[in-house]
Amino acid sequence: MSKKHIVVIEGDGIGPEVTAQAVRVLDAVSEQYGHEFEYEYCLMGACAIDQTGHPLPNATIEACLRSDAVLFGAIGDPKYDNDPKAKVRPEQGLLQLRKSLQLFANIRPVSAYESLHHLSPLKTERITGVDFVIYRELTGGIYFGEKTLDETGNIASDNCVYSRSEIERIAHLAFKHAQIRRKKVTLVDKANVLETSRLWRKVVQELAPQYPDITLDYLFVDNAAMQIILNPAQFDIILTENMFGDIISDEASVISGSLGLLPSASIGTGAALFEPIHGSYPQAKGLDIANPIGAILSAAMLLDHLEMNTEATAIRDAVQWTMENGKVTKDIDPIHHYSTSVVGDIICRHVTKQSIDKEGLRNLMNRVSTII
Ligand code: IPM
Ligand code: MG
Repeated sequence: MSKKHIVVIEGDGIGPEVTAQAVRVLDAVSEQYGHEFEYEYCLMGACAIDQTGHPLPNATIEACLRSDAVLFGAIGDPKYDNDPKAKVRPEQGLLQLRKSLQLFANIRPVSAYESLHHLSPLKTERITGVDFVIYRELTGGIYFGEKTLDETGNIASDNCVYSRSEIERIAHLAFKHAQIRRKKVTLVDKANVLETSRLWRKVVQELAPQYPDITLDYLFVDNAAMQIILNPAQFDIILTENMFGDIISDEASVISGSLGLLPSASIGTGAALFEPIHGSYPQAKGLDIANPIGAILSAAMLLDHLEMNTEATAIRDAVQWTMENGKVTKDIDPIHHYSTSVVGDIICRHVTKQSIDKEGLRNLMNRVSTII
């Protein structure tokens, strides 16, 4: 029995509805395994701007700093996207939260469910056996360097800065994770052009002897972008800086067939944050059609982080069951699909070991929607 204080940031668009399912699944876990999760709901993003004028109110930062973990939905609203002059943007909230919590490592697992291979834009033979994890540095580099715009408004710059210690701390995590996987780390950089990338290579090379069981190799980011499509099964752990990681993790996410499936963890010195990798998908807001799996698997990563590995595995098993048995949302099966909340129901039932066959399923089946 363990008591945990979890901050929930639902955010914008479909954030609230997918996060609601992840919270229900956490409740199912607490019921089944006798834990107590206490939730504190906080604002961030466009909804926070609307209500408080700021994308990240101080109260949210303080609550996160006091918490055991943060569960986050999605951020962004079209009303800010196409206005380069907007002074406040929802995304600033997320960047500031990463910095405030020192969430220096963003961890994104990429794998392809066998039952969904047909959904991937890549050929089945290419994605069979794909199972890798991206370690993206999250609080440094060009995202956080000095930004300038000259008085004429015609010249702009974004500075990219990295220090040895920023590289070392994430590299250690990547090496350690590789040790319990297939023992390979690929550093992705642009060391043929960028000074920061040369520093990454030097520092990572210097750490490598501490992990003699790990094979370390290097790829320039342009080549890495190509290899992720050509032969994604070659990767085990990819380690990279902030912006390269942003780009290749979106690229890698298409391998699985739906953006809605993938979770992520952002780990720092204190409370860690867990979020699906998809965005706020404003077109689907409130329609109960969004895929909750990314959010639910983020809750599983949260439990792993709190060292509740059996509980996390129970969630993953339940998710696997829904995939194999076609209990999926519209992005996965456009003909026979279930709503966001019914997929959440089914996963909760699986976690609490209630029968999902016969009566239970018949009730749920009545809610299946069919597009003709
Ligand atoms: C991500 C997103 C963010 C990023 C945006 C919303 C600022 O794309 O988490 O990958 O660029 O880091
Ligand atoms: Mg991104």
